[in-house]
Amino acid sequence: MDAVVLKVLSENEVIPDTRVFAKNNGKKHQEIVGVMKSLQSLGDIIATKELSEEKWILTDEGSKTLSSGSLEARLFQCVSENGSQLDELKKSFEGFSVAFGKATSKKWISLDKASGMVTKNLDCIVDDVQKDLESLNLGENIPQKTLDDYKKRKLIEKRIEKFYEISKGPGFSLETEKLATDLTTEMIISGAWKSQAFKAYNFSANGRLPDSGHLHPLMKVRSEFRQIFLEMGFSEMPTNNFVESSFWNFDALFQPQQHPARDAHDTFFVSQPAQCNKTQIPADYMEAVKKMHSEGGSGSIGYQYDWSEEEALKNLLRTHTTAVSSRMLYKLAQKTKSTGKFEPVKLFSIDRVFRNETLDATHLAEFHQIEGLVADYDLTLGNLIGMLYEFFNKLGIKNLRFKPAYNPYTEPSMEVFSFHPGLKKWIEIGNSGIFRPEMLIPMGLPEDVSVIAWGLSLERPTMIKYKLDNIRDLCGHKVNLQMVYDNPLCRIEKH
Ligand code: PHE
Repeated sequence: MDAVVLKVLSENEVIPDTRVFAKNNGKKHQEIVGVMKSLQSLGDIIATKELSEEKWILTDEGSKTLSSGSLEARLFQCVSENGSQLDELKKSFEGFSVAFGKATSKKWISLDKASGMVTKNLDCIVDDVQKDLESLNLGENIPQKTLDDYKKRKLIEKRIEKFYEISKGPGFSLETEKLATDLTTEMIISGAWKSQAFKAYNFSANGRLPDSGHLHPLMKVRSEFRQIFLEMGFSEMPTNNFVESSFWNFDALFQPQQHPARDAHDTFFVSQPAQCNKTQIPADYMEAVKKMHSEGGSGSIGYQYDWSEEEALKNLLRTHTTAVSSRMLYKLAQKTKSTGKFEPVKLFSIDRVFRNETLDATHLAEFHQIEGLVADYDLTLGNLIGMLYEFFNKLGIKNLRFKPAYNPYTEPSMEVFSFHPGLKKWIEIGNSGIFRPEMLIPMGLPEDVSVIAWGLSLERPTMIKYKLDNIRDLCGHKVNLQMVYDNPLCRIEKH
C-alpha cells in the first residue's frame, strides 16, 4: 500500500482526505493511517495534516431502526387487522409508550377509549424514520430539525472523526529506503554506517513492561499481620532456621520425650545430620531441662522418666514456631542474669513449620504459624484474654470465645474461637496459654515472671481472605502461578 500512496502523491500532489482514499481503495481507514505513519517514520517523504469532522453516527437503537424499522413502525406491524387490545400491546411491546405516542401522532393508529381497542388507520405506512437513517448512512444530508429530533430519540449521536490530509514532503521520493534500526558491528567494519540512514528514536513509544516478581498471597497476608504486631509494639523474632533440634522444639518446652507428637508419624526427622552438635546447647541449661523432666523442681514433680540426651539431640524440621520462642526466652533469661535486671518483652514471629500430616484440602505437610508472646511480671489469664481481644480486634474480629485445652508447655491453655458470619458457626482461630514454670524456671527466668503466648496459622485467614477452599491452590506444585500474578493486594477489613 505504501507504493500506492506514493504513486497517488506523485501524480496528484495531495491526498485531501484519507477516509475517501481508503474507501476508493477498498481499505479500512485505520489501515491507511498505519501506512501513513510508517511512511512518516522514514523521515520527510510525506507531510501530513490532522483534520477532524463532526459526524452523525447511528446508535444501537438507530442501527436497529435501520434494519427492522422505527419503534412506531414496529408497533404498527404488531397491531392486527381487526385491532388489538391496548393492554395486550402494552404488555408484549417493549418501549410501548414512545411507539404509541409516535404512531398516534402520525395518525397510523388510533385508540377507542371505551373499548380499549387499538386499530390501524392505514393499510400500509411509509417508515420515514427508517428512510432518513438510510440516507444518513449513505452520507446524504438531512434537515437539521430532523437530526435534532433523532438525537433526542437516541437514534443518532455526534462523533468527532479524525482523518488526514497527506501531501508530498520535502524529501519525497517514490522509492522508500529501509531505515536501519540498529548500528551493527558489520556496518562499522565495512564503513556502511556513513551512508546508512537510521530510523529516528521514538521517544513517545510505550516501553515494554519490565518483568518483576509478584508476592504470594501468603506473603501479603503475612505483612498485614506483621503490621498489626508492630502497631502493638511487638518485635520480630529471627525464624531463619527450618532445621531445629528436638531439644529446642520439644524438650525446652517441657514436652516429654514419649509424647506422641515426637513420633516419626507426626514429625519429620532429619537423617543427615541426624543429630545436632551437642556443644550448641548450653550444658547447664540442658542439665536443668533434664532435671525438670525426670525429677521436677520448684514445686513440680516433673514427668518421672529417664530423660535421654540422644533423643534431645535429634534434628527435625521444626513443628512449630514455639521452638523459636523457647530460644528467645532462654536468651532473655541469660540477659536477665547478666544484667541483673529483667526487662519485659513483646515478641512475634510468622514463619514456616513442618508436620508429617496426611494431605487433604485443609492440611499440608508445611504451613505457616503466627505466634505472639509477652513476658512480664505477674501476667495472668486476664492479661492473655485482654491481649487476644486486642489482637483479634485489629483483624476486625470482636466476638471471641475460649475453650480450655491442653498443650504440654502451657497451663492453663485455651483454644480461641470466633463466630464466622459467612459460615454461621464458631470456628477455631487459634491456640494460646501461659507457659509453664517447668519450661521457664530451667531457663533461669525470675520465678515471678510469666509468659503469655498464642499461635494461629497463616493459611486459614489467607484462604478465608482470598476465598480458597483447597489449601493446594495456595501452596504446592499445583499452584497456578497466574493466581500469584493476578491476586489483589491484601487489606484486612477492620470494621
Ligand atoms: N505451638 C502451638 C501449636 O503449634 C501454638 C501455641 C503457641 C500454643 C503459643 C500456645 C502458646 O499449635
